[in-house]
Amino acid sequence: MSLKYPTLFSPVALGGHTLRNRILHASIVTKYVQNGRSTDKLLNYYRSRALGGVAAIVTEPIAMTAHNRIPTRLRAWDDQNFDDLARVAAVVNEAGALLIGQVQDSGRGRHSVGRNDGAVGASALPDDLSWTVPAVLTQSQIQQMIDDWADASLRLKKAGFAGVEISAGHGHLFHQFLSPWSNRRTDVYGGDLDGRTKLLRDLVSAIRERCGYPFIIGLKLPGDDGVPGGVDLTLAREIADRMAHQSDQFDYWTWAWGAHARSLYKHLPDAHAERHPYLHHIRELRQAQSSMASGAIGYITDPNECETALTDGTADLVFLGRPLITDPAFPNKASEDREADIRYCVSCNTCWRSIIDGAGLECDNNPRVGAKDEHDWRPMKALESKHVVIVGTGVAGLEAAYTAAKHGHKVTVLGDHERFGGKTKLHAHLPGGENLSSVYDYQFTMAKRLGVVFALGRQAVADDVAALEPDVVLLATGAKALLPSWMDADWAESGLIPSIRELAPQLLARSDNTPGRAVLVDQDHTEMTYAVAELLAKRFEKVTIVTSRERIAHDVSLINRQGIYQRMHDLGVELLPNHEVHDLKALENAELECVNVYNGAVTRLDDIAIITHASSRTPRDELYQPLLDMGFDVRLVGDSRAPRSLLATTREAYTVASAL
Ligand SMILES: Cc1cc2nc3c(=O)[nH]c(=O)nc-3n(C[C@H](O)[C@H](O)[C@H](O)COP(=O)(O)O)c2cc1C
Repeated sequence: MSLKYPTLFSPVALGGHTLRNRILHASIVTKYVQNGRSTDKLLNYYRSRALGGVAAIVTEPIAMTAHNRIPTRLRAWDDQNFDDLARVAAVVNEAGALLIGQVQDSGRGRHSVGRNDGAVGASALPDDLSWTVPAVLTQSQIQQMIDDWADASLRLKKAGFAGVEISAGHGHLFHQFLSPWSNRRTDVYGGDLDGRTKLLRDLVSAIRERCGYPFIIGLKLPGDDGVPGGVDLTLAREIADRMAHQSDQFDYWTWAWGAHARSLYKHLPDAHAERHPYLHHIRELRQAQSSMASGAIGYITDPNECETALTDGTADLVFLGRPLITDPAFPNKASEDREADIRYCVSCNTCWRSIIDGAGLECDNNPRVGAKDEHDWRPMKALESKHVVIVGTGVAGLEAAYTAAKHGHKVTVLGDHERFGGKTKLHAHLPGGENLSSVYDYQFTMAKRLGVVFALGRQAVADDVAALEPDVVLLATGAKALLPSWMDADWAESGLIPSIRELAPQLLARSDNTPGRAVLVDQDHTEMTYAVAELLAKRFEKVTIVTSRERIAHDVSLINRQGIYQRMHDLGVELLPNHEVHDLKALENAELECVNVYNGAVTRLDDIAIITHASSRTPRDELYQPLLDMGFDVRLVGDSRAPRSLLATTREAYTVASAL
């Protein structure tokens, strides 16, 4: 029993089952399922989380009606895949955890470009994001679906699942019935609160009647969905009150924020949000029925926050989503007082992006998601222990150092300064970036623990590397800003138009408010650029972002882009899309000429105080050829091979170092 987190690690009864502790894995789409069947990667993913100590795992949505026939969903609407369902449950049960299947239908909701063909819904009204208008469900179709969901729940029970969770938030079908914004029906499934909750109430009754006990039934209800006319906190409370009339039929509730709308970003708060932003609402909502097991959820990142949520009257269970993608052994490590060993979620939402892009779940801070022994990684030692010299102390260098040392190699890291983290460290100091420090803090801690030697404070030349007599050299020396095409060498040398990376440290060191306009010329479109824009907005009277693309944050996933737009508009940042810098001559009059990339029309920005640019980067690989010429085995890793994302960097460094 954990002395630090006694409540978190105390067992609790739920739906006739006993959870070994209070941590549940929240439902996470992995896109690891193929053709409706589990894959090794899916089984690895669930097994590692169960072995990592969670009490229960809520699966990703399962296709429980034939209508939900999606290749990336496990199939439970008939017996054809029964053995496969049983295999998934067995993997989790054998590791001491329970498996809860998620019941969900997206209804008219869709995150990607295009319409959701085949969508069914409450009313013929467009989805707020994709403008999909669903086919309206008739009463008999609804009754048939309820029957199918209940049958499939029983099938899951027989296959070894401990229960189901009905996903009634996020703007999906059940939420669409609950919300007066999307449900304008006049029959028994619409109208007042009773009508709008009827589908959910009937479904709960049908599943309980079909599955009996022991069987957990959980509800993920809408909190504030952020849609005008939709479900706000007052209505969320009324819905919970109404559902509580049949609290003898279900076992817990937890919550979802945001919907398929401009509020989607509330679903996955990042480090721009306050920590655990929803706990006070969850505490209030709990008062609807204080005896109902309540699940805390949403941007809860460390064991202390979990314990507090359980002891201050907020909740009885804690659902972790993203933190368990990053570290499946979070529960075990917390219960063994090994919090420093937890690889913490940095709330970057790359996981969400990876499933929307269809790549399968990935994580910036865990290159091993879905690998076999993810919860307790003990790789085979390399047959031959090599001396690996790594140049660079950014996240590529550190991930490679830690990984190579873990495989039994002797590792020396050379760095030109005493700081770790490279460009990620700069990002970590910018608004919304603070969690990123966990990436390099973890890598450094593990590398030190494994005996990696760090020689810092001097820019390495080829002879320094050669003097160490390495077997392999990994160059992780990062990238530098390219000169944008609109800036000639004279301007570059003048230093009057710095890159955002040169400017950001200066902005961080200041707290004054400068009159005039700051212009950020954006040819980057990744998150860090807008973190600098936020800083500019705090230091300058006006800020304008000029980009030749049709919108800013083009390379950021929708869920984070919404947050960026929200902040840029809140801060009054002006956006000038479809424009590029035309001429710098007008700067003599503190003006900047920009030209429309499609029709050539010129826009003059006045009152210029500073111009900065976020441009493409080019590898810093000066040591590569000299070391090759000296006959060394040299590999480029991370941005020094090609400037890319944090995800690509950690994954590549891990892959290269694992193969040495
Ligand atoms: C990649 C990803 C996929 C998700 N898929 C689902 C889902 O299918 N059903 C669901 O109810 N919630 C889903 N969620 C939301 C999580 O269950 C959870 O509510 C949310 O991540 C907030 O918790 P966290 O801050 O601990 O991550 C998903 C979240 C992520 C990051």
